[in-house]
Formats: sequence, C-alpha cells, structure tokens
Amino acid sequence: MDAAQANDYIKNHQVDSSEKPVFHVTPPVGWMNDPNGFSVYGGKLHLFFQFYPYDTKWGPMHWGHVTSKDMVSWEQEPVALAPDEEYDRIGCFSGSAMEADGKHVLAYTGVRRGTDQNGNETDLQNQCLAVGDGIFYEKKGLIISGENLPEGFSRTDFRDPKIWKEGDVYYLAAGNCNEHGDGQVVLFSSADLKQWSYLGVLAGGDQTFYGTWECPDFFTLNDRDVLICSPQNLKAQKYEFHNGHNNVYFLGTYDKEQHRFYKNEPHSLDYGFDFYAAQTTELPDGRRVLIAWMQSWHTNLIPAGQKWHGMMTVPRELTIKEDRILQTPVRELERYRSNEVSYRGVEVTGSRSLPGINGRVMDMTVEITEGDFREFTIDVANNEEYTTTFTYHRDKKLLETDRTYSGLRSDMVCHRMMEVEAADKRLKLRFIMDRYSIELFVGDGEKVSTTVIYTPKEADRVLFACDGTAKLDVVKYDIAAK
Ligand code: FRU
Repeated sequence: MDAAQANDYIKNHQVDSSEKPVFHVTPPVGWMNDPNGFSVYGGKLHLFFQFYPYDTKWGPMHWGHVTSKDMVSWEQEPVALAPDEEYDRIGCFSGSAMEADGKHVLAYTGVRRGTDQNGNETDLQNQCLAVGDGIFYEKKGLIISGENLPEGFSRTDFRDPKIWKEGDVYYLAAGNCNEHGDGQVVLFSSADLKQWSYLGVLAGGDQTFYGTWECPDFFTLNDRDVLICSPQNLKAQKYEFHNGHNNVYFLGTYDKEQHRFYKNEPHSLDYGFDFYAAQTTELPDGRRVLIAWMQSWHTNLIPAGQKWHGMMTVPRELTIKEDRILQTPVRELERYRSNEVSYRGVEVTGSRSLPGINGRVMDMTVEITEGDFREFTIDVANNEEYTTTFTYHRDKKLLETDRTYSGLRSDMVCHRMMEVEAADKRLKLRFIMDRYSIELFVGDGEKVSTTVIYTPKEADRVLFACDGTAKLDVVKYDIAAK
C-alpha cells in the first residue's frame, strides 16, 4: 500500500461534496480518525489525519492531508504517508508536525510486527520522521525505538509523538503506559531531530488514569502550562469522562529542570458524545487553536451506504479563565455567515418556532435572558419524524442532550448531561451545525458538547419550548461555502 496507489484510488472514488458537511473536514473517501500534524507551514495551515481510503472501517493507517488559509475552506492535498516500509507496515499512526530549517517535519508512530521483551509476537510502536515541502514528504526512518524506554514501559503502547522546539532543543512527548498499566507521557530531547535521548516521565504513571494516554499535546496558554491527552477506557465520574476513551486536559506547572509536569485535576475537553484525540497549534497571530476527531471509538456511527466516515470538529480558539479552558469556534467562520435572522425579547410559553430560524448548516445563538420556568428545550434538526433535543434543567443547573430520534438505527448512547452555570439567570447557547453535527458552545465557551447526527437533511426546523415563561434573544446565520 503506497501513497501513489492511495492517490489513484481517491481520484477514482472521491465522494461528491453534496454528500458531505460544508465546512468540517472529512476524508475524500473511506475512513478517518485522529487529526495529525496540525501546523502552520509555508503560509498555510496544514492538517493531516489518520486515513484508510479503501474502506469505511479502520485499516492500515495512512496520513491524509488538507490545507487551509482560514480553517474554514480546505484544499485536498496528496496522501502524505502510506504504510509502505518494513518499520511502519502495520500503519503510520498519529503524530505531529513543525517547521525546522525551512522544511516541514512530520513525527509519527511506525507500527510493525515484532517480538516484545517477553518474547511474544506483537505490534511494536516506534517513533519515525518524514520531511517535506508541504506537499510531498520523504520518510527518514526510525528515530526512537521502544528499546530506548526504561525496562517495564510498554513498547506496544508507545505512540503519537508531539514535537516542539524550545531554544536550541527539540522535544518529543509520546503516549505510553508503565508496567502497572498506568497511563503516562514520556519525554525525549534532541539537538538535531535525529539523535534522541530519553528524559523521563513528563506526566502520569501515577494511577491518575489507567490505560495508555493517547495523543498527548503539551503547550503554554495564557502563561499556563497545559497537557492535553486522550486516556483510554475511563470510568465516568459524575458528569465527567463519559466517552470511554476520553479527551482530557490538565493545567499545571512544568518543572523544566526535572522535566516533570505537576498537574492539577483533569477536566473533560468536551461533554458530548463525539470528540477525541484533539491536537492544537499556534497561529502566527498567537492564537492557540484546537481541532479534534468528531467521533469517538465507542460511538461509531455511520449510515448504511455512506462512502466516507469521520469528521473533524470546527477549529476552536482556546483561552484560559479561572483555571478552565474556554473554547470558541475560530473567528474566521464569521466571514462565511449570511442571511442574518434575529429576534430580541421573544416570549416562549409552551412550544413555538420563529420564522426564519431553521437550517442544518448554521451558526445560531440563543440567549435565555429572563423567565420563570424549570425546563427549557430547544429542538433542532427537527420535523415530524426526527429531532435532537437540548433541555436546560434550570433548578438542577444541567443541560441534557438527547439524540434518540436523530435517525439512529442502532442502540447507541443518546443521552448526555453537562453542568451549566447561568450567570445572572442568563444562559447563552451557540449552536454550530453542519449537516451531520451539532457543536454547542455554552456561555463564552466554558463548556462544549459535540454531537454527531445522521438525520435526513430535510429535518431542519428549530423549536423552542418551556414549562413556564421565558424571554429569548435569537440570532441565526446560514454558513455557506465560498
Ligand atoms: C487514537 C489512536 C492513536 C493511534 C491512532 C491509530 O485514536 O488510537 O493512539 O495513533 O488512533 O489510528
């Protein structure tokens, strides 16, 4: 399976854009999971992704590639990596990218069959490098093998390198687990990207979460140190960590001498159903932007006959407020808005719709400004047959998502709850919808809930309902491709 073969296949099997979301990244055909190599190079934003072109199921991983100038319109580029070497035959797994000496450098995990420390035949994961010009990439082979890890650390779960540079030194952080199965992130350094030394455990290995911490990302945001990772098989705790494999973040303090990150308590990055393996990059203007796979391993929804599978979230700008990460859709999305329809001070008693407030590709903000009620519901992607319902339980300070009637044909998880604080009794809810997805940003992005719905496109109504009275401000824009 080489890149030329994949590019040929894509040319002949490319899915028509009318069957896809408008501004969310999807694979040209076949399967997509994690975002990879999210980076700025050559005046463009590059996004690679875990990709198997030949089926809508996971298979030997390639790196698909798209580029953008504004994170809303994306151009398809040739496949960057294919599993065509002895050391990555099982797959070119997740990783990151950066610019070094004018070149675009990709760090990824090469997976091959081999024998582990105990003599058992297994998949072995090693870190590899490829270098390119923003379109074509040449593999440089293995840079860090599992042999470089301390005794007992897993060589089967050693993946998803994040690389960055500080001063003259390159760093690489990878997901791993120790001899007890505790998840951790291991850290390496290099002067030249070729010779790497093991520095220690950056975070974890301490029973915080059992299971590999996939896809680590480590960066500074508003002068705080942040670690993002995706630990496998989490136990839900109240309203946190409900997705099985989950995407969390830790704020904390990085001790540069000890190479140890002292982390505070973890938080979910997203409270919906479909969010995993987030990565970030820094834009030239200083913004830190995050993108994630808009799916999770345990909610593998795909309508019969669909020839592509997997979407990315809308890229989200990150900031920190009061020890929490806030997320908002990148401001560039606003340039794609049209057909504004807005209402101020609309009263809702019982159930009602509002002329012009409907659609499936839209940016809609609903603000409950006052009222006397216990429950307020917003139904979207609605018609006589289908609906997805968001219910604000005001007394309990909870927001519930229910996608039971979104058109599902399997018994998939359909309910999620998240805690919401309504400041001065006002609650602001921004819905970013793009045919098959709903990303709900609460307040100023204090909480986000991401939901995939494969509801037929004609279900486009929005209904408001309340068990008392409420007053609303609503503004809605269509979002159109340029
Ligand atoms: C996370 C993950 C990564 C791995 C990739 C394989 O979703 O399991 O750890 O590199 O997917 O496709």
